[in-house]
Amino acid sequence: MATRQKIALVTGANRGLGLEIARQLGKRQMTVLLGARNAAAGEAAAAGLVAEGIDASAILLDITDGASVSTAVQTVTEKFGYLDILVNNAGILPKLTEEGSPSQASPQLLLDYLQTNFLAQVSVTQVFLPLLKHSTAGRIVNMSSSIGSVTIASEPLHQNGPKPPRLPYAASKAALNMFTVLLAKELRPEGIKVNSADPGLTQTDAGGPNAPYTVEQGARPAVWLACLDDDGPTGCFFTHVDEHVVNNPW
Ligand SMILES: NC(=O)c1ccc[n+]([C@@H]2O[C@H](COP(=O)([O-])OP(=O)(O)OC[C@H]3O[C@@H](n4cnc5c(N)ncnc54)[C@H](OP(=O)(O)O)[C@@H]3O)[C@@H](O)[C@H]2O)c1
Repeated sequence: MATRQKIALVTGANRGLGLEIARQLGKRQMTVLLGARNAAAGEAAAAGLVAEGIDASAILLDITDGASVSTAVQTVTEKFGYLDILVNNAGILPKLTEEGSPSQASPQLLLDYLQTNFLAQVSVTQVFLPLLKHSTAGRIVNMSSSIGSVTIASEPLHQNGPKPPRLPYAASKAALNMFTVLLAKELRPEGIKVNSADPGLTQTDAGGPNAPYTVEQGARPAVWLACLDDDGPTGCFFTHVDEHVVNNPW
C-alpha cells in the first residue's frame, strides 16, 4: 500500500526557528506549510525552501486572529483533508527593557504574552485537531522555553543570579507546558503525541547573534518530536545537549 504524503504545518515559519524547523521537516520529504501572518514574508520564505528542493508553501495564519485561523484550517481541509504535524512555534519573546520585576509586571504585558504564547496556541491546536485526528500518527509540538520551567526558575543559580526576571514570558511558557501535559493525556488513546520543545538560546532575531546555538541546533528538539515513531514519548519536555535530545525539567 502506498504511504500517504506527510503534511506538516509550522506556525511563525517565515523566519527564525520556525523557518528552520520547516526546512528540516521538508528535507525529510514532508510537505511543509509555512504559517505566516504576513503574506509576502510567508511567500518569500516558502520560495526559499522550494529553491532548496523542498515541497513548501505559505499559508496566511495570524495565530491571534480567529478569522485567520479559521481560513487557514479551511484551506488545509480543502487541499489535503488531514494534517500529520502541527508545530506551534509562533510566539513573542521578551525585550529586556519591557519587563520589570515580578512585583512590577504590567497586567497588559502579562495579557499580551498569555494571549499569543498560550491562548492562541490552545485555539490553533483546537481548531486543527480534527485534521490531526485524520492522520495515522498525529504529532503536536509546542515551542516552549527553559524560562517556562518552574524547576529551573527555582534553582539557586536562577534565584540569586544576575538575570532579570521575566514573569510575562515565563508564565506564558509555563502555561503552555501545562497544556502539553494535559492534552497529551487526553489524546494518548488516539495515538496523537503532544510534547514541548525547548530550543535553548538560539541565534534568531529574538535570541540575538551572540546566542550559543545556531538555528540548526535550536530546531533539533522540535524536529525530533515532530518525527517521533509510535513508541516515542508523549506529554514530555525536551531540549538538547551536544548532539542529543534530552529531557528538560518542568
Ligand atoms: N530564539 C530563542 O532563543 C528561543 C529560546 C526559547 C524558546 N524560543 C521559542 O521559539 C519560538 C520561535 O522563536 P524565534 O527565536 O524564532 O522568534 P522570532 O525570530 O522572533 O520569530 C517569531 C516568529 O513568530 C511569528 N509570530 C509572532 N506572533 C505571531 C502571530 N500572532 N501570528 C503568527 N505568527 C506570529 C513571527 O512573525 P513576524 O515575522 O510576522 O513577526 C515570526 O515568524 C518562540 O515560540 C519562542 O518563544 C526561542
